[in-house]
Amino acid sequence: MYHQYLYSNISKFYDLFLYLNNYKRAVDYFVKHISLPENQHIRLLDVGAGTGLYTLAIFKRFPNAQVTAIDISENMIKKLQTNVKKGSSAKSVKTIISDATKPIRELEGDVFDLIVAGGLLEYVDPDLTVRNLTRYLKTGGLFFNSPVKNNFWGRFVGLTMGFKPYSKEKNRKAFTDNCFTHIKELVLPIKYFPISLVKEGDLFRKDNNLNIKKLE
Ligand SMILES: C[S@@+](CC[C@H](N)C(=O)[O-])C[C@H]1O[C@@H](n2cnc3c(N)ncnc32)[C@H](O)[C@@H]1O
Repeated sequence: MYHQYLYSNISKFYDLFLYLNNYKRAVDYFVKHISLPENQHIRLLDVGAGTGLYTLAIFKRFPNAQVTAIDISENMIKKLQTNVKKGSSAKSVKTIISDATKPIRELEGDVFDLIVAGGLLEYVDPDLTVRNLTRYLKTGGLFFNSPVKNNFWGRFVGLTMGFKPYSKEKNRKAFTDNCFTHIKELVLPIKYFPISLVKEGDLFRKDNNLNIKKLE
């Protein structure tokens, strides 16, 4: 697939690109607004983790966090490991190379307080993927999703990065159809330009498992 080829080859430049367009700061902004107590030993699952921007932002805000990071691209995971080692706190992260749309063998029996998906769901079927990941989140746990907006700029970025953004409604429905309640929308202030043109964020809470449609 084009995007798998793409991420295998851009892992070295990805962070510089994201620094220049203000994305790194935007991730800090999003993480700052996730409603969890800061001294908690939160267990985080970073899906489609890429080079680890969310993982590092989580450690900054929740120094006691335990993080597991998953990505389908081996090169992105390698870069994430290098970035985590470079970080001043030298935290340890469990990394898994895996497809987030399918059950993840290495996570069997694991349950998390928080799942973050930054820029992942536009590459996959959102309903199927959220349903798959729900099993790894505790009841009452939070899921932060940050997709690319379905506007002119988002579609343009999608053309270069190999995806088509979904509508806000479709993204949210993937959660509300799978036993999540929408808690809040996070809107990037204009000072995060130009990334504020393309990124948005939604926080959901998992209510229970009762309504999850049976996985095929
Ligand atoms: C736009 S990048 C986002 C990376 C990181 N979350 C961030 O915000 O910087 C999308 C990532 O999703 C990964 N990805 C795409 N499809 C995936 C899948 N089915 N399962 C796991 N990861 C996937 C890509 O390899 C890439 O690293």
